[in-house]
Amino acid sequence: MVNEEMIQYVERLLPKKEEAIVEIERYAREHNVPIMDALSIETMLHMLKLVQPMRILEIGTAIGYSAIRMAKALPHVHIVTIERDEERYKQALVYVEQTNTKEQITLLFGDALDMGDEVKKHAPFDVLFIDAAKGQYRRFFELYEPLLSERGIIITDNVLFKGLVATHEPIEQKRIRQLIKKIQAYNEWLMAHPRYETVIIPIGDGIAISRKRGE
Ligand SMILES: C[S@@+](CC[C@H](N)C(=O)[O-])C[C@H]1O[C@@H](n2cnc3c(N)ncnc32)[C@H](O)[C@@H]1O
Repeated sequence: MVNEEMIQYVERLLPKKEEAIVEIERYAREHNVPIMDALSIETMLHMLKLVQPMRILEIGTAIGYSAIRMAKALPHVHIVTIERDEERYKQALVYVEQTNTKEQITLLFGDALDMGDEVKKHAPFDVLFIDAAKGQYRRFFELYEPLLSERGIIITDNVLFKGLVATHEPIEQKRIRQLIKKIQAYNEWLMAHPRYETVIIPIGDGIAISRKRGE
């Protein structure tokens, strides 16, 4: 059983981050911007270093934190990332400039569900990273999976939704109940996908890693 103490212990062992990254984390905390938690991002970066992708499509930039971490960890990668919240998109532009990752990151502003044609111009991608509206995961997957290269993988964050997908406790809020149902449906659909095999890693908010069957 992974408990909070264990998580904090592992986090304390992580290498020190550069000041610009710490500043983005601080901004996220102060402005309630949801960014990937420490262990999830480290796990994802480690896996990406093994996969060595050349191009990544990210759905859900927020303020650019994960895109910048990916760009720093993989100096040859190019990331195309989409955000629909204007304030966050503008802050991401600032941080991309400040961290000298402009050459590696293309920031797109808009709703990812309406941007298929625009995104297609940047395809193919070796990784699709889904980290946006939780109720729309399947739509993001179906819209952008065709843009993946032959060995492309899909990473979906927040598939355990703070453990709520597994709880037997009654949930008061209708909106949360509906969201839980949608994520559960996505997980079941994903695990049974005829062309992808998936593992769900119960770290942070839960990450699903899907790769093409038979690869
Ligand atoms: C969890 S945050 C992304 C965090 C970011 N990947 C990180 O770890 O630094 C999710 C973001 O997705 C954005 N978003 C949600 N639905 C979207 C959509 N349909 N199109 C574009 N952006 C969307 C939200 O505005 C929010 O900023």
